[in-house]
Amino acid sequence: MIKIIAINGSHSGKKGYTHFLIEKLFKGSIEEGAVCEEIALAELNINLCKGCGICNTEKHLQKCIYEEKDDIAMIFNKMREADIIIYATPIYVFNMTGLMKMFLDRMNATGNSKDFRLSESGLFFHYINKDIYSKPFVTLICHDNFENESSKNVVSYFKTFSRFVDAPQIGTIIRRSGKLTGYGKDKEKEREFPKILESHKAIELAGKELVTKGKISKRTQRTANMDIFPIPFFSILKKFKWFKEKALEKMKLNSL
Ligand SMILES: Cc1cc2nc3c(=O)[nH]c(=O)nc-3n(C[C@H](O)[C@H](O)[C@H](O)COP(=O)(O)O)c2cc1C
Repeated sequence: MIKIIAINGSHSGKKGYTHFLIEKLFKGSIEEGAVCEEIALAELNINLCKGCGICNTEKHLQKCIYEEKDDIAMIFNKMREADIIIYATPIYVFNMTGLMKMFLDRMNATGNSKDFRLSESGLFFHYINKDIYSKPFVTLICHDNFENESSKNVVSYFKTFSRFVDAPQIGTIIRRSGKLTGYGKDKEKEREFPKILESHKAIELAGKELVTKGKISKRTQRTANMDIFPIPFFSILKKFKWFKEKALEKMKLNSL
């Protein structure tokens, strides 16, 4: 039986859009027999890595000063048992949330920076605890802006993460325009932008594919990540400033 855990880095915990999207993904996976669990970091006690370096001394190697004092060990144990990990984060000022980064920083204490290794991609790195780090993973991102550029830093971060820690990246879900489409909670907005329903359905299918194919297919990912505007060729048109200027004028008129 496949076990999937989602680390939800949203500061809104299980009340936000990130949670809604995780549930969509899980729905598909559960239908295919997977066991799924969401870990909402906002509900847990996670200390900020102090950078004290004690976890890298001989006497306390791989032992964090916060071990057994917060919930990190519990999360790492769940990661050890999982077959697939979903790193889910909203965009906060062009990046992952502080909470998600705080969590990822704590992984550093499970490594040994003096024990040099080469990653499978041929990058210089050091010993890492592969039972925690090196799991197939999906990045799930949501944000309000329409621009693909908004999530660029997080997409790039997880590409780098994958290459250093030998963790195969098996999908990237990016759901833009969350506010415009009502965060999965506003039927009126869903009627106005019906493509959002298609996207949410594709996220369910992505959950199924994780179990049946071991990854999200390119086609499903494209549908899940699509622009939701009911304007033909919007994805191409939005590359042009003149089009955006016209769209902006219309948006301003509509909000008068
Ligand atoms: C502090 C903060 C910063 C944000 N920065 C961005 C941003 O740079 N780009 C964007 O598109 N949305 C941004 N947002 C909007 C969130 O990404 C969006 O509302 C998301 O759906 C929140 O997820 P949640 O409902 O799970 O909390 C920001 C929200 C907050 C609270």
